[in-house]
Amino acid sequence: MLSKTMEEALNRQVNRELYSSYLYLGMSAYFTSVNLTGFAHWMMIQSNEERGHAMKFYEYIFARQGKATLDTIEAPKAKWSSSGKVFEEVYAHEQKVTGMINALVDLAIKEKDHATFEMLQWFVKEQVEEEANAALIVDKIKTLGDIPGHLFYLDHELSKRA
Ligand code: FEO
Repeated sequence: MLSKTMEEALNRQVNRELYSSYLYLGMSAYFTSVNLTGFAHWMMIQSNEERGHAMKFYEYIFARQGKATLDTIEAPKAKWSSSGKVFEEVYAHEQKVTGMINALVDLAIKEKDHATFEMLQWFVKEQVEEEANAALIVDKIKTLGDIPGHLFYLDHELSKRA
């Protein structure tokens, strides 16, 4: 059984993962609006993955006889000045999420909640990948030049994300 503090923290994380999904859906819409359909596709997959993250927490709350409490999802930003700015924000956002996951791990250690600690290890590893993926795209955009005409090669590459 989860402690009340842990139950609240995990429910908050469900909300933050759904916010991530919503944020990336907004970024996908932005890329569609500037005709970078490969970027839009990559971001749509990312949005779907974030919903998957939310569901992992949601299902875990039930598995530990907890109660799911769904709250309002914050509206994400809708406009960016360039593709590079979008991916800089993805990278910064993922670093913030890493901080949230680390705080959950700290709480699990404090509460001696071994099951939650173990469940969170998947997210600890996932965040390494999430940050690396975003940082790589930030670098590629810098190398190619942050204007749509220079990004078609990368757009093609990102369109292949499965
Ligand atoms: Fe759910 Fe992108 O971290």
